[in-house]
Amino acid sequence: MRILAEAVTTAMEQTLSGMGVAEADSADLLGPATVEEHGDLALPCHSLVAVLRRSPVDIAQEISSALAPTLAGTAEVSAVNGFVNLRAEPEWLVARLSELLVDDRLGIAMEEMRVAAVDYSAPNVAKEMHVGHLRSTVIGDAIVRMLVHKGHTVHRENHVGDWGTPFGMLIEHLLDLGEVNAAEELGVGDLDGFYKQARAKFNVDQSFVDRSRNRVVLLQSGDEETLRLWRILVDESMRYFNEVYQMLGVLLTNDDIMGESSYHHLLPIVVERLSKQGLLQESDGAQVVYPGGWVNREGEPMPVIIAKADGGYNYATTDLACIIDRAERLGCDDLLYVVGTPQAQHFNMVFEVAQQAGFMDNSHNAVHVNFGSVMDSDGKILKSREGEAIKLVDLLREAVTRAEQAIAEKNPELKGAQREEIAKAIGIGAVKYADLSTERTKDYVFDWDRMLAFEGNTAPYLQYAHARICSIFRRSGTERSSLSGISISLSRPEELLLARRLVNFAAVTDDTLDTYSPHRLCTYLHSVASSFATFYEVCPVLGAEDEATRESRMALCDLTARTISTGLGLLGIDSPEQM
Ligand code: ARG
Repeated sequence: MRILAEAVTTAMEQTLSGMGVAEADSADLLGPATVEEHGDLALPCHSLVAVLRRSPVDIAQEISSALAPTLAGTAEVSAVNGFVNLRAEPEWLVARLSELLVDDRLGIAMEEMRVAAVDYSAPNVAKEMHVGHLRSTVIGDAIVRMLVHKGHTVHRENHVGDWGTPFGMLIEHLLDLGEVNAAEELGVGDLDGFYKQARAKFNVDQSFVDRSRNRVVLLQSGDEETLRLWRILVDESMRYFNEVYQMLGVLLTNDDIMGESSYHHLLPIVVERLSKQGLLQESDGAQVVYPGGWVNREGEPMPVIIAKADGGYNYATTDLACIIDRAERLGCDDLLYVVGTPQAQHFNMVFEVAQQAGFMDNSHNAVHVNFGSVMDSDGKILKSREGEAIKLVDLLREAVTRAEQAIAEKNPELKGAQREEIAKAIGIGAVKYADLSTERTKDYVFDWDRMLAFEGNTAPYLQYAHARICSIFRRSGTERSSLSGISISLSRPEELLLARRLVNFAAVTDDTLDTYSPHRLCTYLHSVASSFATFYEVCPVLGAEDEATRESRMALCDLTARTISTGLGLLGIDSPEQM
């Protein structure tokens, strides 16, 4: 509990220095209690044995006796097995909750503004977006929302794969199909079909191969007609991607597209600057940089290939250009890349080269925000039944359909447009939450039944808790805004547990953003919702024994609902008022 740690720091420091412990010996000792029942914070005394030459049990005892009187009204102090445990006192919790009650930001402070580029989603033109792109889109969007909420300036960068040799083949296939037909096929999202047909021709038809090669040359040299055809491929693919973004409710728009082609003009500059720094070497006709520190299976140093023997540039070259653009033109402090784990080596090598070349320095925070794969229930990478990449719009439509069935059962009164809207919030929320609530670096299993369950660490569970509170307010006739001056009292253990969790929201949000780990916020929100459920089971709200208790409990309800909806909002998930 960061907020309690802040409240007790001075007293703790004074006590320890009074006992002759130097600041350096006690710094960072106070941490969260490992078991919530034991308290909120704990100070392990084992490391003080060398300084104080007494047993940890005695030290804990002495600290506890000295500290307890000064912290009266803030935290209850006890010594257990060489640990000093601190537990927030009810009156201190009441004071914190009263502050949160009138705080729109629920304690989340604004930070000194940084400029961040978040590189996320990045599907490839004329190829189906796969579940990996779904993860990138969902995680990236949550990180963007949190950064913005903390007051930072964020550049959303959708680094779509829209350039390179396959485009020769794709443009020729477009011409073979006829522009209108091709556009139609791409626009409805049959991207894989289109790509595969082109590939198939490329494999058997030499004249198609020759045409494709010519076309690449025309594209690279900026031939206008070729660029026009290329634009059709890009625009029609984006039309499909935008449909997916719209269904997902993410922030990405056409303004955020910064495809590989956008960095084309910078590629010669990358080469020039690397060469000036003396980093560029020739290897079998290719231009490469050896960053050092990476070896292949044979133990030979591994290069980053900047320009191939035929003069063509590489994926890494474009990413170096991106760094120049983001660090120098946009003035970014943070360069975040939400991309799957298999690209870890690529990013680490690119970051190293960029450092050595002076494209960025230690003031820049370049992070590969990597993530694991989406698996099916057999532990294989998720594919459609035909073994093809799953069409993402289909997956999202299915989520909404399934949610609609669930609501029809749970709340048959909801009908028509209202039901549709709620089904969308629940279905899409379930898919996003399933993704966000697993530790990002781990693989996760895509499981419809689990993600749509109204029990467990799921979006529907949190959304339901929120909707339930909204319904309490509807029935109460009390305006939520009228609660601001209410005096809160906490007597039942269930009220206290809920309160102890509610005051942690800001700290958990900060920690989630600092580690780019949305699952931490998910775990927290679930803990709030489940302590709310227990509270609501044993503590009557509308039927409370007296008006003061009723109001105090309504305040707890309000804080719970706002914590859930704000938290889900930061994750890009809606909180309907009814479901
Ligand atoms: N388009 C790439 C892919 O589908 C991802 C690009 C990630 N971003 C980057 N700056 N390299 O794998």
